[in-house]
Amino acid sequence: MKYFSIAFVSLLFLFVSFRFQHPTSTIQKDVSIESRVDSLLALMTLEEKVGQMNQYNGFWEVTGPAPQDGDAARKYEHLRKGWVGSMLNVTGVENVRTVQRIAVEETRLGIPLIIGYDVIHGFKTLSPIPLAEAASWDMNAIRKSAEMAALEASAAGIHWTFAPMVDVSRDARWGRVMEGAGEDPYLGSRIAFERVKGFQGDDLSQPHTIIATAKHFAGYGFSESGRDYNTVDVGTSTLYNEIFPPFRATLDANVRTFMNSFNVLNGIPATGNSFLQREILKGKWEFDGFVVSDWGSIAEMIPHGVARDGKQAAQIAANAGSDMDMESVLYVEHLVDLVREGKVKESDIDDAVRRILRIKFELGLFEDPYRYCDPERERDIVGSDQIKRASLDMAQKSIVLLKNEGNLLPLPKKGKTIALIGSLAKDKDSPLGSWRAMVEPNSAVSVLEGLNALGENEIRYAEGPVLVEGTPNFAIEVKINTDNRDGLSEAVSMAKEADVVVMVLGENGFQSGEARSRADLGLPGLQQELLEEVYKVNQNIVLVLMNGRPLAIEWAANHIPAIVEAWHLGSESGHAIASVLHGDYNPSGKLPMTFPRNVGQVPIYYNYKNTGRPTNPGNNVVFWSHYIDSPNEPLFPFGYGLSYTSFEYQDLKLSSDRLSKGGEIELSVLVKNTGKLKGKETVQLYIRDMVASISRPVRELKGFQQIELEPGESKLVKFTISEQSLGFYTNFGDWVVEGGQFKLFVGGDSTCDLNADLYFE
Ligand code: NOJ
Repeated sequence: MKYFSIAFVSLLFLFVSFRFQHPTSTIQKDVSIESRVDSLLALMTLEEKVGQMNQYNGFWEVTGPAPQDGDAARKYEHLRKGWVGSMLNVTGVENVRTVQRIAVEETRLGIPLIIGYDVIHGFKTLSPIPLAEAASWDMNAIRKSAEMAALEASAAGIHWTFAPMVDVSRDARWGRVMEGAGEDPYLGSRIAFERVKGFQGDDLSQPHTIIATAKHFAGYGFSESGRDYNTVDVGTSTLYNEIFPPFRATLDANVRTFMNSFNVLNGIPATGNSFLQREILKGKWEFDGFVVSDWGSIAEMIPHGVARDGKQAAQIAANAGSDMDMESVLYVEHLVDLVREGKVKESDIDDAVRRILRIKFELGLFEDPYRYCDPERERDIVGSDQIKRASLDMAQKSIVLLKNEGNLLPLPKKGKTIALIGSLAKDKDSPLGSWRAMVEPNSAVSVLEGLNALGENEIRYAEGPVLVEGTPNFAIEVKINTDNRDGLSEAVSMAKEADVVVMVLGENGFQSGEARSRADLGLPGLQQELLEEVYKVNQNIVLVLMNGRPLAIEWAANHIPAIVEAWHLGSESGHAIASVLHGDYNPSGKLPMTFPRNVGQVPIYYNYKNTGRPTNPGNNVVFWSHYIDSPNEPLFPFGYGLSYTSFEYQDLKLSSDRLSKGGEIELSVLVKNTGKLKGKETVQLYIRDMVASISRPVRELKGFQQIELEPGESKLVKFTISEQSLGFYTNFGDWVVEGGQFKLFVGGDSTCDLNADLYFE
């Protein structure tokens, strides 16, 4: 009997372990990732391979139109069958564990899911919107900010962020400029590199790092008339010289995923574009990570008019190199048939799956699929002080001082009556901006709170007419108040009595972001009227702008003595703004995007081409490139930003004015702090290729350095220039450096005129 029981128990054990042992457990662990990927691939059925290429939205949050497959039961069924390779919008250790457990414990092969989320500027604690961060021009701070976001998101179960957005854009109407680094390919490339490094670190198997995504490949920032998702038609020169460089930079940082984009590029949807995905990205650039589609973008090839139905859309996307289908549910429905019908090659499916599995191995998910699911770590890290401090530091560095006539700023900390005016001044939600991840609504420090916490002035607050009707949210259009003037006269009377008026005006947090293009770039609603009414009674105004894009505020720039660009600065917004207004932090930001005078100038950018008729001939003749009703010049140029101190540039010198192939020269310039306060300056180097085989921009940023100077202190700033800074891509995508004359400009913004000539021979 005893022997019988032992035999029975052993048999049972054998049965159980056989039953629950995944075939994947036969894969050797001590071999390279590539051989583990191959061994796993060899075990997979075609259905399971296609499953890896399928990404579903979770059951908790939606960041696009209603999911194609809203039916949770069906998604769970697919999960159990191993037909899901990734999920997005699943957050928090408990939720991630729930879906991961199904993938790992209930599917035949137990392949873990990769969990993606839009961690765009933080997770639970928000840092400034990415455009604001770009205004810091501070590469260490930007990297640190991405590191903090990765730390917090990874502690909540996230493996993968859909950031950074590296789309260059010159069009402030486009709501998504808030999500990028602005208009310049060089600055954009430097920032793209840092953001990827910040998210991914150097070792992806560390649980505090997450995979980054370079998006949206490609051209999305050039959507016609700034309307989101609109057509993109650009020539190869723009594609290679303006759009591609930041994507290349993410590859230098070893970015592991790309996301394609919603737009057509010269007629072909990016999602179904094999030139972009196969020829350039995976071919020329040798990218070995994977490409995820944008939300439903495979299905959107039907309305684009290039696919007759979902099956054809899946065929086009897979053949063009889109490896993973985000929420179109078309791969999982059609790819198996398409392979069987010979319309999609199984070798292409294998290639896509190999790419996806490679990343899962790199993340260490096969060693421990729950390595990001530690509830204790989640409790300790999410919302911790360390992350809040970094967010405050980043917010201070992102602020740009646009105007400070008569040194109205900084404000004294006591003895003044300050009228604080505007809906946005007490708004605890708008500073969070768009793309909020898991932040609590209304959790930012408002300007009112920030000012009250610093100094001993008497702060009197009047809202003025409300900016927004109702409570805006992510999926709903913001309703701007255009006719209710309640509160206007109270604000004006309060301003009349005050020593100084601080007006916080601009955009609600949901007026920028995805699908939030604007046709007008002025102050929304009744804010312009409020500003002008207050100005009539008290001109001692500090205008604090809170916005997600450059605004056309020509009247304010002409009338208001002090203007501070404070963007949407995230969780610590009010503290950062108060510290700048009171001079505890001397502002150092520089604009990463040109501010237009009016919407008619848009797209407007500093690195434009000269045209054949660039200047006014001066003899009253009309035939030159200009507007008859507006200057050509912007309101505030790219790279511009003031400080509470001032800087002077002198002694520009080149080690030689000749540069030959393979050589280097050194440019030096002496920068002096001529003001009374310690301050930080971003020294910028621009280059113009005077004559080339294709018309080149009037200047291009090619380097920058940040220095901090005590009052009276000078520093010699040096740049090394090689042919790398002088070349460009031809219209055929070939890199060339042509001989001839170049002009080098150095200074504190893109209009600087200290210059020297360099000849490349
Ligand atoms: C659509 C956006 O274009 C993309 O950037 C984002 O990552 C996805 N939705 C997922 O939310």
